[in-house]
Amino acid sequence: MSEWVRVARTDEVQAETPLAANLDDETVVLVRLGDEIVALEDLCTHDGGEISGGCIADGAIECPRHGARFCLRTGEVLSPPAYEGLHVFPVRIEDGFVCVRDDRWD
Ligand code: FES
Repeated sequence: MSEWVRVARTDEVQAETPLAANLDDETVVLVRLGDEIVALEDLCTHDGGEISGGCIADGAIECPRHGARFCLRTGEVLSPPAYEGLHVFPVRIEDGFVCVRDDRWD
């Protein structure tokens, strides 16, 4: 099973502002939803745009390249031109740090 990795301090993740963070060799985007922090892959399934540059609204993040929208909790596509969802990584908070686990190949 993959290991938990500290990717950011919790106070670095501000509401309404996506934060790109390194998870091993990948980039994930962290978003604060109230007291919760979610982590999604930072690679749009439409054409590889960096989701972390997008805007947050109504529980979704919008890709800055062509406007596809993804649900922050499930990663599912809410509007085209993307048709495949984003992976949502498990997150836990530990000693003031956001810890993420890459469970895609567990
Ligand atoms: S690269 Fe994200 S919508 Fe096109």
